[in-house]
Amino acid sequence: MCGIVGYIGEKEAAPILLDGLSKLEYRGYDSAGIAVFDGEKINIAKSRGRLKVLSDQTNGGNNLKGTMGIGHTRWATHGAPSDKNSHPHYNADETIAVVHNGIIENYLKLKNKLIEKGYTFQSETDTEVVALLLDYYYNGNILETITKVMSKLEGSYALGIVLKDYPDEFYAVRKDSPLIVGVTDNEKFIASDVPAILKYTRDVYFIENQEIVRLTRDEVTFYNTDLEEIEKKMTTVDWDINAAEKGGYEHFMLKEIFEQPKAVHDTIHPRIKDNSIVIDELNMSEEDIKGIKKIFIIACGSAYHTGVTGKYVIEDLARIPVEVDLASEFRYRNPILEEGTMAIIISQSGETADSLAALREAQAQGIKVLGIVNVVGSSIAREADNVMYTWAGPEIAVATTKAYSTQLSALYILALHFASVRGKITDDELSTMIHELELLPKKIQSILDNKENIQKFATRFVAAKDIFFLGRGIDYATALEGSLKLKEISYIHSEAYAAGELKHGTISLIEEGTLVTAILTQEDLYKKMISNVVEVQTRGAYVLSITNEGNTECEKSTDLIFYIPNTDKHFTTSLAVIPLQLLSYYVSIGKGCDVDKPRNLAKSVTVE
Ligand code: F6R
Repeated sequence: MCGIVGYIGEKEAAPILLDGLSKLEYRGYDSAGIAVFDGEKINIAKSRGRLKVLSDQTNGGNNLKGTMGIGHTRWATHGAPSDKNSHPHYNADETIAVVHNGIIENYLKLKNKLIEKGYTFQSETDTEVVALLLDYYYNGNILETITKVMSKLEGSYALGIVLKDYPDEFYAVRKDSPLIVGVTDNEKFIASDVPAILKYTRDVYFIENQEIVRLTRDEVTFYNTDLEEIEKKMTTVDWDINAAEKGGYEHFMLKEIFEQPKAVHDTIHPRIKDNSIVIDELNMSEEDIKGIKKIFIIACGSAYHTGVTGKYVIEDLARIPVEVDLASEFRYRNPILEEGTMAIIISQSGETADSLAALREAQAQGIKVLGIVNVVGSSIAREADNVMYTWAGPEIAVATTKAYSTQLSALYILALHFASVRGKITDDELSTMIHELELLPKKIQSILDNKENIQKFATRFVAAKDIFFLGRGIDYATALEGSLKLKEISYIHSEAYAAGELKHGTISLIEEGTLVTAILTQEDLYKKMISNVVEVQTRGAYVLSITNEGNTECEKSTDLIFYIPNTDKHFTTSLAVIPLQLLSYYVSIGKGCDVDKPRNLAKSVTVE
């Protein structure tokens, strides 16, 4: 977790660092800090709380002079959120300052060793050992010192390092935590993610594991751990600069909800050519696809929920058995991965620690991995054997919406492609479904145009203590996501149930006034679902049903109803989830919660 930035150039560094950190707060917001070198002294300001606290404390950065510096926004792992645990960390005479994203797993051992050598620690963090190790091993040659320190560290790190002995350069290094370098002619940047520097440059280098970077105003040099210079290819990113800003919306989440028609279009459209599916990047022959015996879909949180929908869709269309697994479970349960198995890892950030570990586990067992990833150049994107990008653009709100929708789209595309290659659907069926896919953005838009209705319903939900989400088949997958979305941003307890499971225990929780959201998009399951809805209603539940236009039968047994446009039965999650996202958003607003940055959460979970 955490976000880091760094700058060297002609301008005052502090305001640029604060601005960059403001685009990284989604990575953690327990505290923030900056270190700026004024030519004589490294000046450090840091504070518990949101970036705003630091910004006020430093007068927007104007109190710290200097044209080189590093910054950090923190999601606490080792040591509670506090001023002293905030980064940057530094040595006793304040000649070395460090910001860090990741976890130093062997920090206790290193800390004890440093204490034996006479060092004292100011904080409870794992990061401080890095600053003090740099001090301990420093021999006047910083590159040698950095490699020495790297050889001692276990775990993950992206580091920014400023030293008093090097007034015109700073250093960065990464292992298993993201890091990019941005360049203009006379300015150089480091950042955990592209939006932090998009305002200043689009020319970036993606730093690989165990690479060290030296940044001066005029040049950037990359080294391996043998301190040999390495050549790296610069990439020009084409993200829209407004995409990293709120663009007139009150919250990033609402903006991102409204960006879904475009995001879904951008994910689907390039993969449809002449009425067939073409996934250029897939790099799998027809023989490879015909040879798939089983698919594992592995992910965390909402990405896992898209996998649950994906299971229904791929199994039904392509007739390939699919197992969906939580990455945190998969990685430790010694999974059986036989020949003919394919693994799909789904991740918005491409940096989720458990998903990355699952990817490595699958590869270690000789299984090819397809990554469905949003962040270009992220760890999962780089390490997977094949990558399908989801083209949602940067997602800032902690609760995913548009990335989730694009992950679904990518899975539909994949399912149709596999089904067609394996001869499980006819050309006519394929063409009808492709047509439906192409209509999804418009249909999502039509739901968004109706947002006031959901907003009205939300007022009924604001005071709720518990909310249950019910569905059968694909609708159960949608219920899982609806429930997670609501609880993570409104802090209302909620649970998702496969409606047929209710009678096996959960129905005892239903009492007068309990709120239930029922999802009914599968025509062949309408009757069964309506029975389940009646069962909870007769026990006092107040029911909101989300169903397809035309299913008026449902009106008899529901208190509130929201109709979504009809589509192919495999794609209904993409439409049914939209009112659920809006509901969560408006309930969260109604309760006065911090929608974009819910408590205890961070966007990119780069630790276990
Ligand atoms: C919930 C949410 C999380 C993520 C999960 C995986 O709204 O965003 O549950 O889906 O942390 O993250 P990625 O997709 O980055 O691997």
